[in-house]
Amino acid sequence: MKRDVIIACDFASAEETYAFLDRFAEQKPFVKIGMELFYAEGPDIVRELHRRGHKIFLDLKLHDIPNTVQKAMAVLSRLDVDMVNLHAAGTKAMMEAALKGLTRPDGSRPILLAVTQLTSTSEERMHEELLIPGPISDCVCHYAKMAQEAGLDGVVCSPLEAGMVKQHCGAAFMTVTPGIRFADGAVGDQVRITTPAKAKEIGSDYIVVGRPITAAADPVAAYRQCIKEFVG
Ligand code: C5P
Repeated sequence: MKRDVIIACDFASAEETYAFLDRFAEQKPFVKIGMELFYAEGPDIVRELHRRGHKIFLDLKLHDIPNTVQKAMAVLSRLDVDMVNLHAAGTKAMMEAALKGLTRPDGSRPILLAVTQLTSTSEERMHEELLIPGPISDCVCHYAKMAQEAGLDGVVCSPLEAGMVKQHCGAAFMTVTPGIRFADGAVGDQVRITTPAKAKEIGSDYIVVGRPITAAADPVAAYRQCIKEFVG
């Protein structure tokens, strides 16, 4: 599997997104479209970025009854994206249904990832609000294993958890990790973070990088720096 850097295109409109991506004259970065952009622009933004030659991670984190998720995944699959995700908390039955919905008549399908515990959820909140006891790492490993048993390709997790997930589920189980910052960069609202170089060392397969690239004075240089550190 080839490591790559995915740029989180957390923009409010298609215009802003195209203006940003037009700066990348030489390469077509792998991009992540999240809820904000997708809900603002709909499937057209996906079709247009696909037409422009970008690989796409559609980060909509589905979580509903199995039948609904299966049908929604079938729609996303027809958009020809490269990667989609859901919440492992939706149960194994939901993940299996998602996989079924995602698989095209020729057997091909986008990569399917599970979100374990959001990196914004603290262990304390997980205990008190979600009523899940024990260390958060146990929950992350359990959800990852459940996703693997359901046939998924990997998980979205903190880069600091990537090694642990690999140990638990094997090296081939994919880890896609946001929470990336340059050693000398602003942290913002992220908590469990690390650098692109360290994420490579721990074993992430893909890093998702937003503001360190999108808010940089020179986004193309920041992207190149990520590639240099992470892909090598
Ligand atoms: O700007 P920044 O690099 O923090 O962006 C990280 C991206 O990854 C955002 O789009 C955020 O929604 C997403 N993400 C995350 N933590 C998760 C799952 C997704 O930061 N656990």
